Amino acid sequence: MCGIVGYVGYRKAYPIIISGLKRLEYRGYDSAGVALYDGKIKIYKKKGKVSELEKLTKDKDTEGTIGMGHTRWATHGAPSDENSHPHVSNSGNFSIIHNGIIENYSTLKKELLGRGYTFNSATDTEVLVNFIEDIYENNEIDATEAVRIALNNVIGAYGIVVMCKAEPEKLIVARRSSPIAIGVGEGEFIIASDATPIVEHTKDVVYLNDNEIAVITKEGYKVLNLKNESQTPYIHTIEMELEALEKGGYDHFMLKEIFEQPRSIADSIRGRIDPENKKVWLGGLVDVRKELAQAKRFIFVACGTSWHAGLVGEYLFEEHIRIPVEVEYASEFRYRNPVIQEGDIVIAISQSGETADTLAAINLAKERGALVLGICNVVGSSISRATHAGVYTHAGPEIGVASTKAFTAQVSVLTMMALFIADLKGKLTPKSRSIIPEMLQVPEKVRHIVNQSDKIKEIAATFKDSPNCLYLGRGSNFPVALEGALKLKEISYIHAEGYPAAEMKHGPIALIDENMPVIFIATKDESYEKIVSNIEEVAARKGRVVAIVTEGDTAVRNIAEFVIEIPEIDPSLMPLLSVIPLQILSYHIAVMRNCNVDQPRNLAKSVTVE
Ligand code: G6P
Repeated sequence: MCGIVGYVGYRKAYPIIISGLKRLEYRGYDSAGVALYDGKIKIYKKKGKVSELEKLTKDKDTEGTIGMGHTRWATHGAPSDENSHPHVSNSGNFSIIHNGIIENYSTLKKELLGRGYTFNSATDTEVLVNFIEDIYENNEIDATEAVRIALNNVIGAYGIVVMCKAEPEKLIVARRSSPIAIGVGEGEFIIASDATPIVEHTKDVVYLNDNEIAVITKEGYKVLNLKNESQTPYIHTIEMELEALEKGGYDHFMLKEIFEQPRSIADSIRGRIDPENKKVWLGGLVDVRKELAQAKRFIFVACGTSWHAGLVGEYLFEEHIRIPVEVEYASEFRYRNPVIQEGDIVIAISQSGETADTLAAINLAKERGALVLGICNVVGSSISRATHAGVYTHAGPEIGVASTKAFTAQVSVLTMMALFIADLKGKLTPKSRSIIPEMLQVPEKVRHIVNQSDKIKEIAATFKDSPNCLYLGRGSNFPVALEGALKLKEISYIHAEGYPAAEMKHGPIALIDENMPVIFIATKDESYEKIVSNIEEVAARKGRVVAIVTEGDTAVRNIAEFVIEIPEIDPSLMPLLSVIPLQILSYHIAVMRNCNVDQPRNLAKSVTVE
């Protein structure tokens, strides 16, 4: 999704903005641009990567201690130089960068066309900047007031930064449903759409709330709401370390993040488990203990990989709490007039905490009276603030667009939540209780799996040119199959599907021939014998079987072309292990196909538009 970086201070803005935009590259984008003020406003923008923008500005004037930069992920209008941000108003007085979508832009555009405005791009953003200008020109007001009035009249989502030639010493920043963070340094401010470009400059950050405007000069800043009332900003201290945002010797962020999982899982469970007394303690849920004890149903809402974590959560909650669970795509839930009843608790799962559909689903659930909990990775994110209570995953910053360590952290948290709630309800069986100390063994077992990366690479070499791939699993390994398929299609562009293994005979079996790779997750659990039969069915049709099995397995080894052994663990913890070889396999296949692993085409890390 689009990225924003702004700078006001005493240092040259351009290099700070460019390095900030590079930190935001992980979000996914298709063009980039900057505006700089140094007596005059200079704008450079270009379709393509930030490096293309750098080539464009190589011999150009990039002076100035105030500026703003943007990476655009196309919504209105194709990726092109013209559609890139910043956009400038007709008189040249206002420039803007914008994340989000102005939904009533066509009505506004019609009005502005009627008043003689012309447009150079197909974007909603160019409409907004001219709308601001029109208000400014027709009233005796300053730029901030013009922005405020304009924003009171737009429908949609925005994170914006505005520069005004007539008031050049300031940046005007605003947000609604699209995050804006302001790094507060000594005599300087760094504005960004998430904290990653800020940490190398300062750890003090103000997150704007929806419908707030900040006016920032190098002397200081003030925050107003859309009614023009002054707001008291809260300065958060962010804990993110710079090293966490760098590759640390790995070829890609994704590989680093896969290898980080022993630590990220350990961080997610640290301090939350008491192995001796077999208890789980989730501080973020303490205030809602009563509601949890009385819960009658849980509804998970999420998108993408987080939705898969929710599906694993369904197995965990139903197994340990014995209570019904529904798992909903947030985008469907929000428009489906969902039935929310007394005793329903909605749990939103999101790595970024900014996904627009998940946020909208939360708001709907709140309107209908549900208690809404969050499982988020990004501290201070919109979802973590919009929910009544919740648990952070502590996976650390995830930069690779394809989610890996966030998934295992989410599943770790869901496991602990299931055990914690079962205990609150007095339903924790001795068998479920025994999982609590076993969770502490997960990080070491994951380490053992990532160390098999080279072996998995050999399997990747065999299948790198396959146009299709099928992933099959049963029980809680079924969502793992879905996640494995998603990983492969996201980063290698190979068509892949995940299916419950038993469903294969109702359709996908028709696809099996001697060219079809079929990845089975066939670890030892109740349905092991059944999945061995499914493997036989594929092998009988000459499908090429890769099987993830529990160490020491012999039955599958005799049928499969390749096996990847993973350590034994209680079946309800198995998704935390069985997903790891699938992540590694996708990674190696994508690298061998020369794909951009960390920034796959068309994808965004955090989808802040519908
Ligand atoms: C995007 C990302 C996925 C992610 C999904 C949900 O599609 O590319 O990796 O799973 O959004 O994001 P969230 O931040 O809400 O978990």
